[in-house]
Amino acid sequence: MASSVAYKGASIFITGCNRGVGLAIVKEILSQPHSPKALFATCRSLKSDASKELRALAMKNPVLHLLELDVTNALQLEAVVEEVKTTLGDHGLNLLINNAGIYDLKNSEYGCASSTLDDVNRDLMMKVYETNAVSPLMIVKAFLPLLQLAAKDVKCQPQACIVNISSDDGSITLNAGGHYQYKCSKAALNMLTVSLSIDCAKDCITVVCIDPGWMKTDMGGKAAPMSLSDAIPVLVQLIGSLDMSKNGSFLQYNGKTLPW
Ligand SMILES: NC(=O)c1ccc[n+]([C@@H]2O[C@H](COP(=O)([O-])OP(=O)(O)OC[C@H]3O[C@@H](n4cnc5c(N)ncnc54)[C@H](OP(=O)(O)O)[C@@H]3O)[C@@H](O)[C@H]2O)c1
Repeated sequence: MASSVAYKGASIFITGCNRGVGLAIVKEILSQPHSPKALFATCRSLKSDASKELRALAMKNPVLHLLELDVTNALQLEAVVEEVKTTLGDHGLNLLINNAGIYDLKNSEYGCASSTLDDVNRDLMMKVYETNAVSPLMIVKAFLPLLQLAAKDVKCQPQACIVNISSDDGSITLNAGGHYQYKCSKAALNMLTVSLSIDCAKDCITVVCIDPGWMKTDMGGKAAPMSLSDAIPVLVQLIGSLDMSKNGSFLQYNGKTLPW
C-alpha cells in the first residue's frame, strides 16, 4: 500500500473490533484524511453493551460496516465472507487485519489466569491456539479470493495486504519462560505468517505479523507502559506503508524488526 494515501478508497476487514486494539485501529483509520471505501469491523456480539462504542461509530460513518463474527465459528465466517463479497461487488479486499485474540481464559469455564507450567492444561492450550493461530489462518483462506482480486485490480491503488496481530511473546529468541498457551499460539501465528508470505507472493499479497506493543487494554493490563493513543496511530501509519519489501516480516508497531 502506498504510504500517505494508503487507506483512500481501500476495503479493509478487521476482527475483534468492539474493544482494545481492534476498536482503536478502527477509530484511527476512520480519522485518516482519506476515507476507505469500506471498513468491515467484526465483533462477537452486536447486541451487547460490549459493542456500544462500535455501534455509535457506525451511526456516524457510512463506510463502517459491522458484522458479527466469532473467529472460531466456521459457519459464521462463511456468511461474513458472503456479506463482504456482496457489499464489495466487483472490488476485492485490500487489507485483512487478524486482530482478535485471547491471552488466557480468565472468567471462563476454564477458570484460570494461566502463566506458569503448573497452571497450563490441555484445554487452555487448545482454546488459545484455536483462537490465536488456527482462526486467523482460516480467515485468510476464506478471504484469499477477494485479496487476490484486489491485488490484480490495476485500477485499485493499494495492493493487498494481510496483517496478523502477533506479539513479542511469540518470539522464541526473546522467550523468558511461562505463558505457554499465549506464547505458543503467537509463535504458531508467526510461523503461518511466513508460510503465507511465501505462498501468496505470486499473487503480490504482502503478509506480515506485527507486535502492536504492550498497551493498556483488558489484555495488556494496567501495568502496560503504553496507552492505545501512544501506539495505535504509529501502528496504523506502519500498516499503511506496507508493501512487498516487507513481505514475511515480524515487525513492531513502530516498524522495527523483531527476532523470530
Ligand atoms: N494489549 C497488548 O498489550 C497486546 C500486546 C501484544 C499483542 N496484543 C495482541 O493484540 C490483539 C488485541 O489485543 P487487545 O489488547 O485489544 O485484547 P483485548 O482488550 O482482550 O480484546 C480482545 C479482542 O478480541 C476479541 N476476541 C477474543 N476472542 C474472540 C473470538 N473467538 N472471536 C472474535 N473475537 C474475539 C474480543 O472480543 P470480546 O469482547 O467478544 O471478548 C476483543 O474484541 C490480540 O491479538 C493480542 O494478542 C496485545
